[in-house]
Amino acid sequence: MIVLGIESSCDETGLAILEIDDAGVSSIRGEVLSSQVALHEKYGGVVPELASREHMRNLPVLCEELFDTTGISRKDVDGIGVTCGPGLKGCLLMGVTFAQGLGLSEKIPVFPVNHIEGHILSGELHEPTIKPPYLTLVVSGGHTEIILVEGLGRYTCLCRTRDDAAGEAFDKSANLLELQYPGGARLAGWADKGAPSARFKVPRVAREMEDFSFSGLKTAVALMVKRNREELFGDEKLFADVCWAIQDGIVDPLVVKVSREVNARRLPLVVCGGVSANAELRRRLTEKCRTVYFPPMKHCIDNGAMIAYVAARYLAAGTKPPHIDIFSRWPVETLSDFYGVAHG
Ligand code: KG4
Ligand code: ZN
Repeated sequence: MIVLGIESSCDETGLAILEIDDAGVSSIRGEVLSSQVALHEKYGGVVPELASREHMRNLPVLCEELFDTTGISRKDVDGIGVTCGPGLKGCLLMGVTFAQGLGLSEKIPVFPVNHIEGHILSGELHEPTIKPPYLTLVVSGGHTEIILVEGLGRYTCLCRTRDDAAGEAFDKSANLLELQYPGGARLAGWADKGAPSARFKVPRVAREMEDFSFSGLKTAVALMVKRNREELFGDEKLFADVCWAIQDGIVDPLVVKVSREVNARRLPLVVCGGVSANAELRRRLTEKCRTVYFPPMKHCIDNGAMIAYVAARYLAAGTKPPHIDIFSRWPVETLSDFYGVAHG
């Protein structure tokens, strides 16, 4: 079965063609991605209306490119998987409208896919030996969740953020430190040159607290910048130490809570989402958890392959495509009801 995956939930337009055989073995036949970072950079964050228009422009061009480079014809496609949420509504609408147009003209079924389920299953996409039950840590600009995976569509969120996502905490702190958007990786680069210092400590949320919370960190960074502006921007050592403390303030609660779950349940861990690029997070998780797996970086960030894979798995299991709608919020715990199945 050949499945086209379409992702447009935020600022990346991603398409991929994936083939899955009767035994469930999948291979990516081709993929394309267009990032909008340069477009949103000057605004310091994603501008939803601009992002939607960019998706509208990109989708037909990228789709043609994908068919051309893979040599696969649209007539060969058995199913289209499209992200229907969670995400920015205007952006989702672009992907869904494009998918439905293509589906209608070529009589291809269109399958609604949850973006987070895409991230979750990116581990299984690459490493077929990973089988439920296992845990995933989804850490991106919009999500911070520890999820127990018990089967296709069977997810329990064990821990989520009450306010900002981990990537958002990186980016907002970087913004306060006047690092260019998206500043997460830049802040991490500075942090790697820093060390613990008595000058700045991020207030710790109680380690026992069940959920994550990163909004206090922002306030602490804002106050630090306000009170020490001149010294901070004039002293590279102090700047690097502040970045170290911020990174530690985000990474520490992630590692504490994830390793507690992983080791208590004796389950493997899959880490995905853009923040999984963070070297310190990778180092500490690898040190603290029994078995940890990071999908390749291009599939940790948003991409079309993970969306194609989710649709392929459901279609291969005989799931009928539910009615298409778009959802800005769409908890993964609701998926077994949504698809009306209880796969093992
Ligand atoms: O998954 P992703 O590409 O997009 C979505 O949010 O869906 O994640 C992007 C996030 C941004 O917040 C970015 O700053 C963060 O991942 N990020 C990092 C690093 N690389 C990307 N955060 C910390 N350290 C990094 N090395
Ligand atoms: Zn994502």
